[in-house]
Amino acid sequence: MKFRLKDLLLMALVFAAMAALLVLAYQFRRDGWLFWALAVLAAPSLAAFIFGAPFVPATMEAARGMTEAAGLKPGETVYDIGCGDGRVVYLAVRDYGVKGVGIELSPLVYLLARARGLLWRSGAEIKLGDFRWHDLSGADAVFCYLSGDVLAALETKLKKELRPGARVVSLVYRFPSWKESRSLTCGGLPVRVYIKE
Ligand SMILES: C[S@@+](CC[C@H](N)C(=O)[O-])C[C@H]1O[C@@H](n2cnc3c(N)ncnc32)[C@H](O)[C@@H]1O
Repeated sequence: MKFRLKDLLLMALVFAAMAALLVLAYQFRRDGWLFWALAVLAAPSLAAFIFGAPFVPATMEAARGMTEAAGLKPGETVYDIGCGDGRVVYLAVRDYGVKGVGIELSPLVYLLARARGLLWRSGAEIKLGDFRWHDLSGADAVFCYLSGDVLAALETKLKKELRPGARVVSLVYRFPSWKESRSLTCGGLPVRVYIKE
């Protein structure tokens, strides 16, 4: 996968901020509240990294391909799980007139998404937190670019909560047991489409 320089810089920025927070937390380990404040800011990015879904932005070609593959109609509700800097959900709202919600675990990446939202003047709502805390039953379409344990946990949740007919578009990675309806290639990356039965 070919990254643009801007995306490489974004990833380096998030990684450096996480490392700096961890070092600072260690430095202030005897300073009760400051240690916890720094650790709470760094821990979600570290957890995403360990459990298989660190911040790696989709290329813009892939993001466009994902929104196209979802067959969105104006007024529908879309969720972007692990929305990163929000590029997929912002595109969906801007180009298809849908209601968009992005959920992002890492506070550092969440701040990037909010900053990008100001630039794009997008109406998408970005929520900070783990997707497991959110009810996804209102979604007509769901986007994700996750892997490992995180993707497996999302599969279980989607199978339980999504309404029949809802579409799920996963960039690159297959859900562990869900059979994909179709797949296409966008900007050299596989885009996998699932339909909830
Ligand atoms: C590979 S990046 C994809 C970013 C974005 N979706 C894109 O395509 O550009 C995965 C993102 O998922 C986030 N993430 C990982 N685990 C998560 C969880 N349990 N809940 C919400 N977001 C999560 C990470 O912080 C990271 O920003």
